Amino acid sequence: MPLTDADWAALAKAEVQPLAQLFADSSRVPQLSVDVAGISFDFAKTHLSPAHLAIFSRLAEEAGLHDAQERLFTGQIVNPTEGRAAEHLAERGSGSPQAVELAATRHRRMRGLVDAVEAGAFGDVTGVLHIGIGGSALGPALLVDALGRHEGRYKVAVLSNIDGQAFDDAVADLDPATTLVAVASKTFTTAETLRNARAALAWLEEGGVDDPYGRLIAITAAPDKAVEFGIDDTRILPFAETVGGRYSLWSAIGFPAALALGFGAFEELLEGAAEMDRHFRLSPLAGNAPLLAAFADLLYTQRLGAETRAVFAYDERLRLLPSYLQQLVMESNGKSVTADGRPLGRPSSAILWGGTGTDAQHAVFQLLHQGTHLVPVEFVAVAEGDDDQDPAHHRELLLNAFAQGAALMTGRHSDDPARSYPGDRPSTTILCEQLDPRTLGALIAFYEHRTFAEAVLLGINPFDQFGVELGKEMARQLDEPEAAEGFDPSTRALIERAGL
Ligand code: F6P
Repeated sequence: MPLTDADWAALAKAEVQPLAQLFADSSRVPQLSVDVAGISFDFAKTHLSPAHLAIFSRLAEEAGLHDAQERLFTGQIVNPTEGRAAEHLAERGSGSPQAVELAATRHRRMRGLVDAVEAGAFGDVTGVLHIGIGGSALGPALLVDALGRHEGRYKVAVLSNIDGQAFDDAVADLDPATTLVAVASKTFTTAETLRNARAALAWLEEGGVDDPYGRLIAITAAPDKAVEFGIDDTRILPFAETVGGRYSLWSAIGFPAALALGFGAFEELLEGAAEMDRHFRLSPLAGNAPLLAAFADLLYTQRLGAETRAVFAYDERLRLLPSYLQQLVMESNGKSVTADGRPLGRPSSAILWGGTGTDAQHAVFQLLHQGTHLVPVEFVAVAEGDDDQDPAHHRELLLNAFAQGAALMTGRHSDDPARSYPGDRPSTTILCEQLDPRTLGALIAFYEHRTFAEAVLLGINPFDQFGVELGKEMARQLDEPEAAEGFDPSTRALIERAGL
C-alpha cells in the first residue's frame, strides 16, 4: 500500500539526536554495522536511532516491502507503467524459472562468443570498442576500469558520447585491423549509439578492414533492429526486454568485461551479486545492509531535508562508481509521481554526486565540513590495496577516508568562527575486504536493492524512465527543416547563433 502523510507523520515528529549523543550507546557500532559478502557497512555515523528503525520498520510493513521484494524476486510485475517484471535478478539466478533459464541460455551464448574470440574466430583481436550509452555503457566501463588493470588481453575502450571528439579519443589507442566493435543498445534505436556505430564502421573501412560489418557484435533486447542495421544474427547477443538499462551489466551488456576479465570472473561477479540478493531477501531488517542504507537515505531526505548525497570512492579502481550510481539512483528514483500516477507529494531520491578521495578533499570537502547544506557522505574503500601498489599509499588513502568521516562527525570548536567545524555531519563507510569480481558484484547489487527499497517506501516505480524521452524527441524535431519555428525564442536564437 502506498504510504500516506499520516504514515510519515511519525518520522516527521521523531527526535533526531546529535551523533555524539547517539554514540553514548556503546552498542551503537555493532548494532549499525553489517558484514556481508566481504563488505562491511558502517551506518553508525548516520543519525539513525533505534526509534527511527522502529518507525522505518512500520513504514516498510505498511508499504508492503516484503511483498514487493517477493514480487521482484519471483519475476512478477514490479514496473506497472510498462506492465512488466524487472528481471535483472534472473541474470544471477532469482526469478521465474523461465526467466532464469533464458538468462542462463543467453549467458552460455555470450560465453560461446567470448570463447570464439579467444580461439581466433575473429583473427587476431587486441582491442574492443564498446559503444553504448547510459546503462549500456556505464556498467561495462565500471567493471573494466575497476577490475581490468592487470588484464593485458584486450584493450577496452568505452564510447558513449555523440561528440566526435569522444569517438577520436576512444579509438586513439585501438588498431582497426585487430579491434572488435560491440554495439550495445537495449532498444537499438538510441541516436548516440547508432551514430557512433556508423562512425566505427567508417573507421574500420578506412583502416583497411575488408568486412567492417563482420567486426561488429550487437548486444540488445531488440535483435531484429540489429539485423536491420546489418549485423549478422550469429553475432547478436540478446538479453531480455525486462532487464532495465541501468540494471543490465549482468546480462550480455557485460560482454566487454567478460572478454577482458575472463568469463570465470564474470561468473564470480554474478555470484557476488547473488549473495547480496539472498542477504536482501532473507536478512531481518536490523541487519539488512540495503535496507539500513535506504532508511538512512529516507531519514535525510524525508525528515531532515537533505537534497543531495555524496559518494566518494577512496580507491582509484572505483573512480567510475559515482557516475554509475548517478544513473542507477537518479534515473530510478528521480520522479515526482507515484507508481499509480499520483503526485509524490514529498521529496524523491536525493541528487547523487561524488568523486574520488583524496582528490575531493582538496576541492569540495570545504563545503561538506563548513557549508550550510546537509550532505550525507558515503565513503567507499577497499581494505586490501592493489598488489602492484606501494602499500604506504594505500594506508594513507584509507587513513584519510576514516579521518574525514571522523572529522565530519566530531567537528572542532574554535573561538574563531572561520576556523570552527560544527561537526555532527553524517557519513556511511563501506569497506570492501578486497576488490575482486565477487565483491564488486555484491557492492553493485547492494546499491540496486537500496534503490529498490527506497522506491517501495516512496511508492515510486524505479524501473521506468519516461523523463528522458521528451528531450530526445525534441532533438529529433529540431533536426527537421523549419522545425525551429515551432520552438521558443530562446531556443531559436541559440540555433541561429550556432549556425545550425
Ligand atoms: O535515455 C535513457 C536511456 O534510455 C537509459 O535508460 C538507457 O540506459 C540508455 O538510454 C541507453 O538506452 P539503449 O540501451 O536502449 O541504447
